[in-house]
Amino acid sequence: MKPRLFATAIVASLLPGALMSQDASAPEAGGAPVDLAAFSGDAAAGEQQFARQCVSCHVVQNEAGEVLAGRNARTGPNLWQAVGNRPAHVEGFAYSPAMKAYGESGVLWAEDNLVHYLLDPTTHLREALGDSSARSKMAYKVRDEGQARDIAAYLATFGLPAGEQPGTGG
Ligand code: HEC
Repeated sequence: MKPRLFATAIVASLLPGALMSQDASAPEAGGAPVDLAAFSGDAAAGEQQFARQCVSCHVVQNEAGEVLAGRNARTGPNLWQAVGNRPAHVEGFAYSPAMKAYGESGVLWAEDNLVHYLLDPTTHLREALGDSSARSKMAYKVRDEGQARDIAAYLATFGLPAGEQPGTGG
């Protein structure tokens, strides 16, 4: 009895977010909730790097419409509550098929996968999906791992608090 229930729970946890979000008691999409306070980078340094490296394509804009970082670039998705959320959560954004598949795989954006992604988006998606033909639409790489960690810490300040459902929004 017990083992079977357990197996069912595992299968449920692998289902895409659309189904998961119906059930508030379901486990976070396959991963532990992301502790936004535990990011190791320097968020203040990350803010400067974000302004240099990311705002040509990304904005951070909350539900109230306030722009918290960047100008109004829309080449990339709004990064409000991206950290702690499942990849490709912004409804209406034209993500690559690889990014959508990544979002459906059950992971959440945490420090290590985000840093790896920022250093080489396409390689990250290929390794994560086990698909050598996967390709990210993000045509940019952060050159330095320390900078990527600082930027990740900065984005965590706009992250989805642990306990809130990973979901849609925009
Ligand atoms: C040339 C434009 C461009 C630049 C510069 C850029 N990005 Fe992106 N970014 C994108 C695009 C386009 C996507 C969507 C990728 C996909 O669908 O494969 C994306 C996706 C992302 C995602 C995933 C978001 C989600 O909803 O899951 C994160 C996180 C991200 N970028 C962070 C950054 C950071 C941090 C920087 C600066 C270091 C940066 N990007 C620089 C275009 C850009």
